[in-house]
Amino acid sequence: MARLQLTPLSPVLGAEVRGVNLAEGVDDATFAEIHEAWLRHGVLFFKDQPAPMSEAVQTAFARRFGDLHVHPAAPGSGEGDAIFVIHCHRDSKVANGNGWHSDVSCEAEPPMGTMLQLRQLPSCGGDTMFASMEAAYAVLSEEEQAFLQGLSAWHTSEHIYRGRYEDRGVEDAGKVYPKAAHPVVRTHPETGRPSLYINRAFTTAIVGMENGEGDALLKRLLRHVERPEFQIRYRWERFDTAFWDNRCLQHYALWDYWPEERLGHRVTVGGDVPFFDPSAPAPAPSPLRMATPRLRPA
Ligand code: SIN
Repeated sequence: MARLQLTPLSPVLGAEVRGVNLAEGVDDATFAEIHEAWLRHGVLFFKDQPAPMSEAVQTAFARRFGDLHVHPAAPGSGEGDAIFVIHCHRDSKVANGNGWHSDVSCEAEPPMGTMLQLRQLPSCGGDTMFASMEAAYAVLSEEEQAFLQGLSAWHTSEHIYRGRYEDRGVEDAGKVYPKAAHPVVRTHPETGRPSLYINRAFTTAIVGMENGEGDALLKRLLRHVERPEFQIRYRWERFDTAFWDNRCLQHYALWDYWPEERLGHRVTVGGDVPFFDPSAPAPAPSPLRMATPRLRPA
């Protein structure tokens, strides 16, 4: 019996979920429905949450998807440092996630999913944008898809993380921040669907093309993946909880509300080494592919 009410936010990605109070915990049957809906829509937004999840409940819910991941730079709290408090206020120098990215894609095994519950919101603003990298891949020509399938790109983080959390007491002298090469076209390990796996924050070069030609290709791809048709813009309500799939989406948290404050608790779920599987069966028609067949790369 269906427990969840799902409202898609676009034909391409994202759905609101009603009918589950996360603070009370999630039973197995409800979890199975959530998991299936998550793989279908890429990001779910749990609405009408009457109260925040405790740290124990939030980490337990996230752990149903896999082992928890600890951020390589930000200070953690709660169980095993798994809670990353997202907090932006009058004295903040930078805002978390304020640019297109897939979380911590600089790691060899980037986190597969991220769960964020917002506890404090500005009076307006502070939306988060999400973009489907499956849709971005699906609209490329077959020739371009075949060309990109052979490429990898560097995802680095020194330029992002060095000194970033100094104001929260993180001293990082001597620390080495992660860097990894990942396939430009990534096969989703659960759905088998391909997507473009590059993002403006972490992806700094195409492997073997660390030259003008590689820079031009990367610039073109980064412009392409940011096309509005692949996106939604989510307006939060207090205690809304989002869970997004970093393997096929990227996101951008808008910092348009200074000097007001925005605070949430974020937990990430560990992932695997990104791969491209040329033998993966052609994806079954999905909302992501069907919504965009007539678009051409920007
Ligand atoms: C993040 O990138 O994890 C932050 C997202 C947000 O604050 O909306």
